[in-house]
Amino acid sequence: MLELKNISKSFDGTPVLKNISISADDGEIVSILGPSGCGKTTLLNIILGILDTDEGQILYNGEDMTGVPMEKRGFNIVFQDYALFPNLNVYRNITYGLRNKPDVSSPQEVQELIRLLGLQEHLEKRIDQLSGGQKQRVALARTLVMKPRILLLDEPLSALDGVIKESIKEKIRTISREYQLTTIIVTHDPEEALTLSDRVLIIDSGTISQYAEPDEIIHRPDNEFVKKFILNQLEIKRSNIYALFDTPAQKAASM
Ligand SMILES: Nc1ncnc2c1ncn2[C@@H]1O[C@H](COP(=O)(O)OP(=O)(O)O)[C@@H](O)[C@H]1O
Ligand SMILES: [Mg+2]
Repeated sequence: MLELKNISKSFDGTPVLKNISISADDGEIVSILGPSGCGKTTLLNIILGILDTDEGQILYNGEDMTGVPMEKRGFNIVFQDYALFPNLNVYRNITYGLRNKPDVSSPQEVQELIRLLGLQEHLEKRIDQLSGGQKQRVALARTLVMKPRILLLDEPLSALDGVIKESIKEKIRTISREYQLTTIIVTHDPEEALTLSDRVLIIDSGTISQYAEPDEIIHRPDNEFVKKFILNQLEIKRSNIYALFDTPAQKAASM
């Protein structure tokens, strides 16, 4: 279990995160959701250990990780831009981290991961021969071969569209269930957060607006911010979809 207790962070005297406390169970998918600039990436970086928190604690299975350096926490992140090596093929990208730590995953475990992520036919390809969704799957595989204790994803779906987005969502779900891996996902898209995660942390200007299951957020929003930010955006999306079908031909047919 991952626990954040009273995390606060300021940059140059400006508070960016204020008293954030949440917990995430093993195998749980948690989304951190909020508008641009609300502090999502800062919170992710504090969990990962790239950034120190000013106040509060990060606990993993009860153990205090607060001052522990990033590489000793055993958490791992897939960055928004994937950060793959263009000069290595897919297989070498996936197994890159095992060069110095070959015992972390057995060859069978690597193959299983490749199969789970549907990358069998792409292993010999160069990175620039891949689609966005394929790159994202390689980035996931490369991180997962190192068996992180917590998987962090910063906007993993924002560069992908439609069907590909759905397939990556499915892969993230499969992985977190299969490996009982706690997965923390940053997103600014309410629909993504509500359809992908077990619980959603909604942040409004650095404070917790609501932390609950998607069903509860939709049916029992805690406050005006949740109602406005979340539900309005879903409404806008819905009306965009309706607008798509509102073509002259259909109008004529319905008259
Ligand atoms: N290293 C930094 N130094 C100063 N200000 C920062 C730094 N990183 C982020 N900020 C500021 O903190 C706020 C939250 O940023 P961030 O966590 O990146 O938001 P989000 O990921 O939700 O878009 C923003 O106002 C941003 O400008
Ligand atoms: Mg961000």
